[in-house]
Amino acid sequence: PVVVKKICCIGAGYVGGPTCAVIPNIQVTIVDLNKARIDAWNSDNLPIYEPGLDEVVKEARGRNLFFSTDVDKAIEEADLIFVSVNTPTKKSGIGAGFAADLNYLQLATRRIAEVSTSSKIVVEKSTVPCRTADAMRTILEANSKPGCTFDILSNPEFLAEGTAIADLFNPDRVLIGSLQTESGLSACGSLAAVYSNWVKKDQILTVGLWSSELSKLAANAMLAQRISSVNALSAICEATGANIDEVAYAVGKDTRVGPKFLKASVGFGGSCFQKDILNLVYLSESLHLPHVAKYWRAVVEMNEYQKDRFAHKVVETLFNTITGKKIAMLGWAFKKDTGDTRESPAISIANHFLSEKARITIYDPQVGEDQIWLDLTDYGAIPAEPIKPNVSIQKSAEDACKGAEAIVVCTEWDEFKTLDWEKIYANCPRPAFVFDGRLMLDRKKLQKIGFTVVTIGTGDRV
Ligand code: NAD
Ligand code: UDX
Repeated sequence: PVVVKKICCIGAGYVGGPTCAVIPNIQVTIVDLNKARIDAWNSDNLPIYEPGLDEVVKEARGRNLFFSTDVDKAIEEADLIFVSVNTPTKKSGIGAGFAADLNYLQLATRRIAEVSTSSKIVVEKSTVPCRTADAMRTILEANSKPGCTFDILSNPEFLAEGTAIADLFNPDRVLIGSLQTESGLSACGSLAAVYSNWVKKDQILTVGLWSSELSKLAANAMLAQRISSVNALSAICEATGANIDEVAYAVGKDTRVGPKFLKASVGFGGSCFQKDILNLVYLSESLHLPHVAKYWRAVVEMNEYQKDRFAHKVVETLFNTITGKKIAMLGWAFKKDTGDTRESPAISIANHFLSEKARITIYDPQVGEDQIWLDLTDYGAIPAEPIKPNVSIQKSAEDACKGAEAIVVCTEWDEFKTLDWEKIYANCPRPAFVFDGRLMLDRKKLQKIGFTVVTIGTGDRV
């Protein structure tokens, strides 16, 4: 196999940045068309918040890690190119609302073919539908210079935001898919050698190209399915008096099920789960497998139901109207330890409250005011003026909760556990309600203070 000396990564986002920052010993240049993003990666204020990322980037930057907008130069110099661009759900055209938008991926692929004057290994890092490598190969071959050949590998990323650095240094597995041809297997060996700088050999799995592509969609679909299953059960718990944490604990003790990823919640968010399941639904439909499509679609439908159900519960508990009432929302990110708000359940819940004409105050330790406004206006698609009087964004949880008739926990930030809840209670009108959408607060303690506590997955309201 070719020994990889220089790597280029196209796409300096949540995946490209962290995944390449942990690579030791090899020169890596991460490129992006977005200059502001590259400037931020080159500054003290990195464009994404991720525990441990600052330290890793500071150590590697200028040593073997570089950030640049000169896409062509980095492609030209590299032996191996990670394509780590965004693949969002299509908003219009065929497959709108389901299929992945592969435009960014195809533009990057075309650029690789046009610029390269030597042979390259091209690695799909982005999450893509099964058999995307076929289209990439056609684009590369149709646009390449004489004598340049391309091997395409699939190497999906399994990091979770908030724990990305730990996940990357110590992955459950690294998956590499290749064609089972001589050159495909050789390229696979080259990439495996890159990872073997810090990942144990038996954790580097090598499989066929199509299995690798499908495994990424499958992993996310099965993880999300666990959450939708536990959230579906949480509705039964609320109606019967069973407790979802106890049920999840009991079920998870079965070693065949396992204890992780069984936390009931306001619903899953993040840029991946919904997008990748819809992608799988679209793929199933395209392959004339409607029953399979219907099965996976239900995972997303259950998630929508959970978000709606939680918002309705707040309205119902506040005596069926929240018009003019002040509601504090604690947390805006889709999970703790990230500033990412893509598909955050907090956004749906806020929209629900605003449509009921409530006044909302929002606090999140990592999400800035500008981002919250982008989310509330769907990046400018919804006018801000009509909702402005009803939205206030605060710099602390205590400020957000002042005078609130209900406090709604949307993200499980650790700091919410240790707030001065007595003081918060003293500043709330009566009855004072806490809605714990993450089952994270000490319910008994809050009840003792005087709050009425309503949680996902427990029926016994006090
Ligand atoms: P992102 O939007 O944060 O980053 C993508 C970057 O690619 C952007 O900065 C964009 O400007 C850049 N880009 C797009 N087209 C380009 C081009 N032609 N040339 C140069 N730069 C270009 O996205 P992300 O969250 O990093 O996700 C990237 C991929 O990884 C997606 O396919 C996603 O599904 C997958 N993934 C994401 C996660 C996650 O936790 N975010 C985890 C696993 C896999
Ligand atoms: C996910 C996958 O975990 C990761 O492997 C993949 O590479 C990208 O997609 P991410 O979306 O970053 O990662 O975070 P994850 O920890 O999976 O959480 C996704 C959502 O599910 C969050 O909103 C989280 O709060 C929610 N969740 C997670 C639950 O509601 N309950 C759980 O038990 C776990």
